[in-house]
Amino acid sequence: MVDDPLLAALDADIRPEVGAAFLDIIARYLAGTARGEGPVTTPLSAEDLVARFDQPLPDQEQPLATVLERLERDVLPHVTRLTHPMYMGHQVSAPLPAAIWIESLISAINNSTAVQEMAPPVTVIEHQLVRWLSSLVGWSDQSGGTLTSGGTEATFTALLAARAAAMPEAWEQGVGADPPVVVYGETAHYAVPRAVAQLGLGLRHGIAIPSREHRMDLDALTATLARLATEGKRIMAVVATAGSTPTGSFDDLDAIGRLCEERGIWLHVDGAHGATALFSDAHRHRVAGIHRARSLAWDPHKTMLLPLSAGMVLVRNGADLDQAFLQRAPYLFHAGGARRVWDLGPRSFQCSRRGDALKLWFALQRYGARSVGALYDRLCETAQALHRELAAHPDFEPLHHPESNILCFRYRGLESAGEASQDRVHFELRQRYNRSGAGWITMTVLGGRRVLRVTIMNPRTRLEHLQQLLAGLEHEARGLAASGLPLPPSGAGA
Ligand SMILES: Cc1ncc(COP(=O)(O)O)c(C=O)c1O
Repeated sequence: MVDDPLLAALDADIRPEVGAAFLDIIARYLAGTARGEGPVTTPLSAEDLVARFDQPLPDQEQPLATVLERLERDVLPHVTRLTHPMYMGHQVSAPLPAAIWIESLISAINNSTAVQEMAPPVTVIEHQLVRWLSSLVGWSDQSGGTLTSGGTEATFTALLAARAAAMPEAWEQGVGADPPVVVYGETAHYAVPRAVAQLGLGLRHGIAIPSREHRMDLDALTATLARLATEGKRIMAVVATAGSTPTGSFDDLDAIGRLCEERGIWLHVDGAHGATALFSDAHRHRVAGIHRARSLAWDPHKTMLLPLSAGMVLVRNGADLDQAFLQRAPYLFHAGGARRVWDLGPRSFQCSRRGDALKLWFALQRYGARSVGALYDRLCETAQALHRELAAHPDFEPLHHPESNILCFRYRGLESAGEASQDRVHFELRQRYNRSGAGWITMTVLGGRRVLRVTIMNPRTRLEHLQQLLAGLEHEARGLAASGLPLPPSGAGA
């Protein structure tokens, strides 16, 4: 090692024993949480945590052992334990172990996949992943895509490509006073209307179609497309959802795809959550017709159980992505002439790009496509088991049949508090349950009412954990009743 005091700490930290210290902490965390040890989340409030981390900028180096100790004392005990089987919260995964371990290697090499010459194998691997996933969709080798930071960026990128197809002049000229509209389901993720606004179309050029049974109402969609045609309004894209955020429901992609084909409309499918059904023999039918899309958002960091971040945008015709981003950057992107250009930066929102392709590729090598499908099946089966438990329980009511791994339900045991208090009851129940550390769930609004929502993102969550969830909620409901019902109707914060 060099005799340079400035580099001494860096040199010290590349020793294998330092890596081993990190591995030890991570392995203990993973094993403990897998066994269901410890609370799922911290009892500390944001303010308590702010106080804990309120310190001056560290001026001097500290021994690694001291900083690791701090990590183990102040950070790890208070994280949300997604690898705990009682975590059933947002759509963020209990990550696949091999993909966890390779994260440090991705950081160690730190190859940026903007240009192939900076990340020789990793860029090529990303192209291979795009080919694999596109072929599952049923697309030819004309297709293309890139990894993204997630579904939000994927949908934004896809709609940018749709804008380039509808308005090639927009990159230079802007969208003008009469831009086209984008049509999407009322339960579309906020990424969709946000993209409409970000693309300069203006939110009023986003048209939300009502749902029937939690999916886009086809009659309403057909009528809207007809009305827009009569009004002479241009349609930039229709966005369908495969695995909706509130209920994990799938729009009828085949029917919507046909409608779009007949009218020459760009169909974007937001499959951030549910496109993984393509890996599953049991669930592939949910995305029948997905090949009719022009673009697809698909998040391996959701139901493929990759650690954050790993999103993907795919397009049926790769050239559509080149049209989406028309910037020139001679210091970075070198036109290929007759040579094929493998760089991914020109097709991506990002400039410096993490080599996340490596973790998806590594996980697929390690576990294989069959396991990805089997894990997806298991998450969905667990949601179905929860549906059965809820339906058999006098105090709970499942609100829909789970089409994937998401399920919404109501607690009925405090209905004596009155209908007007039920939003508040559900808010309080979830709050108390999550704070208890016994488990972690989410809530949403269905049909104007606040409801409880579970997303099974951990294959270790089994029947016994579902039963613990219901027992835990009942326990909190008893506490809530004891603390003084009737509750005020929902107000601010509920
Ligand atoms: C259907 C759907 N689309 C898009 C997103 C956004 O994905 P990300 O958080 O990866 O940007 C989500 C997130 O939950 C989602 O459920």
